[in-house]
Amino acid sequence: MQYTKIVGGNGLEGEVPISGSKNACLPIIAATLLTHETCILHNVPDLTDTSHMLEIIRYLGSKVQRLEKNSWSITAQQVNYQAPRESAGRLRASVCLMGALLGRKKQAIVPIPGGCNLGARPIDLHLRAFETMGVTIKMQEEQVYLSAKNLRGTTLSMEGPRGSTVTGTANLIMAAVLAEGITTIQQASKEPEIGDLCHFLVQMGTKIHGIGTETLTIEGVDTLYGTEFTIQPDRMEAGTFIILGLLCGNSIAVTGTQRIFLQSALCGLFDAIPHMGEYCHWENDTLHVSHAEKMPPFSIQTRPYPGFPTDLQPQITVLASQIVGTSYICDTIFPERFAHVTEFKKFGMHIEQRTGAIYVHGRTKLQGTSVQAMDLRAGGALYLAGLTAHGETTIRGVEYVDRGYEHFETKLRALGATIERMEA
Ligand code: EPZ
Repeated sequence: MQYTKIVGGNGLEGEVPISGSKNACLPIIAATLLTHETCILHNVPDLTDTSHMLEIIRYLGSKVQRLEKNSWSITAQQVNYQAPRESAGRLRASVCLMGALLGRKKQAIVPIPGGCNLGARPIDLHLRAFETMGVTIKMQEEQVYLSAKNLRGTTLSMEGPRGSTVTGTANLIMAAVLAEGITTIQQASKEPEIGDLCHFLVQMGTKIHGIGTETLTIEGVDTLYGTEFTIQPDRMEAGTFIILGLLCGNSIAVTGTQRIFLQSALCGLFDAIPHMGEYCHWENDTLHVSHAEKMPPFSIQTRPYPGFPTDLQPQITVLASQIVGTSYICDTIFPERFAHVTEFKKFGMHIEQRTGAIYVHGRTKLQGTSVQAMDLRAGGALYLAGLTAHGETTIRGVEYVDRGYEHFETKLRALGATIERMEA
């Protein structure tokens, strides 16, 4: 069992290079199943989630070779359609195997997906989309059995009760690219990660119109081809480090992304936090972030892109605790995504919970403590709290953080953090 010790309270400074995006990369790895030719992927982050996904497609028959640290060659010459129950069940993004295997094989057996415990995470919108394409579906012992005589284009909305589904949109796109006829997706997810998937598929020979908008039109083709593609930077990792800079940065330089990309991909963060511009400034493609001395309290509602991202909700809560006044944070996407509040209170944060929302009363001086990570983004937020707090913090459950932040502790140490990974 691993845990991490942090001694907080120091100002941090230096450069932090942003890695490739986990949530762009996982569906794209699944999409390599759609061709028998070789795909070469660059800027693939070195994470347990990406290792798991590569293992799964290797199990399905793909030839998977590491070319360099973050570059992989994948060739799915022969593919079987039954995903491994154990590892696929652990990874939310394994749900994307359904669309890719339906596209390639017209059938799939995939475990009900796992992933971070953020409250209810149904897949009804995914399955409904497949049914409208002529797929028959049955569920048995936590497995989903999908098959279709032929896959026909459809027109439908991917909007659910809490906005459009991201992996649901990815799934439908991957089932549609080799289907007969045209598929029109209304209220498609507009997350930048979906844009990356679409650009990858276009490079493979797909015809997709409306990329980046809420209406995608996909013309099914007969064959897709191998291609070489670079995964976009991870905007959630960037957002996490930007918030760290606002918390305790003498001056943190966020590199490895383009200004035009990050300003657009993180517009939800930049638009939500008042006076952000006073603490962040661009020098070419490097974003310099410094400690937010006097930031007014804010009111945030998480929304699908381009709104404030739910994957930065725990992190922005730590910032709210350091701001004088009361901030309001509501998660409209995952109303139960507040399991971390009990851990935050151990630092001394003053947080009042409501249904699907919290009030954070700042400013509180945080004291080091012992806490437990319960999911990936909340785990990252515990590091931010530990680095802000005075004294020593112990974080257990750090395996969650290894799922989605590449070399997180190495990057923090390079900024001057006193941080050590221990074996219990
Ligand atoms: C993706 O999860 C991300 N994961 C999540 O990031 C992210 O928090 C989430 O999108 C929202 O942005 C990956 O991309 C691997 P959804 P996903 O389907 O696709 C409801 C991280 O930390 N819904 O967009 O599973 C659902 O309950 C992770 O990297 C249905 O009702 O999320 C939720 O309320 C955490 N029926 C809302 O839609 C469905 O069939 C959005 O879920 C599907 C979803």
